[in-house]
Amino acid sequence: MNSASAPGKIILLGEHAVVYGQPALAVPVKQVRATVEVWPSEYRGVWIDAPDIRLKAELHILSRDHPLASSLHTLFFSLGIDPFPNLNIRISSTIPIASGLGSGAAVSVALIRALSAYLGQPMPDEEVNKLAFEMEKLYHGTPSGIDNTVITYARPVYFMRGKPIETLKPRERFTIIIGDTGLPAPTKESVADLRKLWEKDRHLWEGIFTEVGRIVNEARHAIEYGKIKELGELMDRNHELLQQLTVSSSELDRLVEAARKAGALGAKLSGGGRGGNMIALIDAASSNSGVTAIEESLKRAGARRVITTRVE
Ligand code: MEV
Repeated sequence: MNSASAPGKIILLGEHAVVYGQPALAVPVKQVRATVEVWPSEYRGVWIDAPDIRLKAELHILSRDHPLASSLHTLFFSLGIDPFPNLNIRISSTIPIASGLGSGAAVSVALIRALSAYLGQPMPDEEVNKLAFEMEKLYHGTPSGIDNTVITYARPVYFMRGKPIETLKPRERFTIIIGDTGLPAPTKESVADLRKLWEKDRHLWEGIFTEVGRIVNEARHAIEYGKIKELGELMDRNHELLQQLTVSSSELDRLVEAARKAGALGAKLSGGGRGGNMIALIDAASSNSGVTAIEESLKRAGARRVITTRVE
């Protein structure tokens, strides 16, 4: 049996503008993971068992545009595997689906690693990342590539489309509290809707994207110089711009407000928006009660789930 797993991710700043060539910052969320196990099958075919999405089927029964089926076809094709071997694939994940935590990208990365190793062709990270990006396109249409990148390398990244990956080294640790609205974050739709707006008035929307890019660069500086309070202010400003980009929602705004009132240094939506997650910042020197106050306040304001993760 071969198995591989990959963490979730959260975008710190720069979502959406990153699709248009601006930089963004993202970090892995190691508290949640997708795991893929592969072993030989005594029956003919590729047997997929993914209990989290209640899927148990042989590959050829799935329609070709089912995300998992098309991912597997892409993977077998790129490995030059034909005919397909008889095998079992079990996919399990603790990453909430469609919440902005990169569940799809994490499954892709774990799938590529487990299957390529099982087939005797283990891949270096660079190739895993490239192939996971191809799979992201099947799920999301026009992704920037940030999700597969941060998940493949499992390190904080400064990401810009088409540029070499830069890892991010925080001078001081800080803590991110992730609050889930419990509503799906339809990333594919929010990215496509924004594209339609951009096509109608490129000048207007690109002005906002450029401003987001500027904030991201300042935030990178703040992280690398340990200016956590400044990072919080930049997150607040990024949230305002995301509201202008039409990707926030009343639920996200409510959680953002609740986190700020409970003492967060800054808060914003994270990922595709409309639903899914928001994040709140607190410095690592804060007491446990500081973290608890924000967690409780998020729950009172309607968060379905709260995950606290340290960035270092
Ligand atoms: C999704 O995690 C982040 C977006 O910027 C889309 C992307 O970068 O592909 C909304």
